[in-house]
Amino acid sequence: MMATTFDSRDPMAPEFWSERFEKQFTPWDLGGVPRALRDFVARSPAPLATLIPGCGTGYEVVHLAEAGWDVTAIDFSEAAVAAAQAAAGKWADRILTADFFTFAPARAPQLIYERAFLCALPRARWPAVVQRWSELLAPGALLAGFFYFDKSPKGPPFGASEEELHHLLATHFERIEDAAVSDSVPVFAGKERWQVWRRK
Ligand SMILES: C[S@@+](CC[C@H](N)C(=O)[O-])C[C@H]1O[C@@H](n2cnc3c(N)ncnc32)[C@H](O)[C@@H]1O
Repeated sequence: MMATTFDSRDPMAPEFWSERFEKQFTPWDLGGVPRALRDFVARSPAPLATLIPGCGTGYEVVHLAEAGWDVTAIDFSEAAVAAAQAAAGKWADRILTADFFTFAPARAPQLIYERAFLCALPRARWPAVVQRWSELLAPGALLAGFFYFDKSPKGPPFGASEEELHHLLATHFERIEDAAVSDSVPVFAGKERWQVWRRK
């Protein structure tokens, strides 16, 4: 079998991700809604206005929208947005082409959902991600999703240690949930955890 080759090497550029979507090399893609998110939605006392940065194929959009949640998903890759809009059917207008670092949502999110966005970016970019999360979320609002733990210097995906993630987030957030994940794709298996962090 021929190995897939890529022209774009910079994960901070939208072309990097578009090329991988176009070549159907998306090993991070679960092909559906993660179990921990389904559980979180099912036990949430009320719908939450939700932002999904770097949504990729964005299967979560339909799940949240059908549960009555006001969800907006963004991605800066046109190919990712096209895939997400195709998957979203009647909810396609919930998906926008935008760069997370400059996107200003119409409504302040009560929840930012994280999956494979932080780990898609080089570690040097993480403080800027956390800064933007903390600007977008008011005190009491939530950051929930999947966090990838790994030491390899190579990525994406780029992993954190437990201590590094804590160091990054603890100034603005307190962790209120931490659980193992049972339905990981192979690249994340045994190395990701479901966590919920509340904005201080
Ligand atoms: C590894 S994929 C994960 C996609 C999706 N969250 C999932 O769980 O399948 C990372 C995604 O983040 C997007 N992305 C990276 N940097 C971004 C940025 N600055 N603004 C918006 N999207 C970005 C990429 O285009 C890509 O679709």
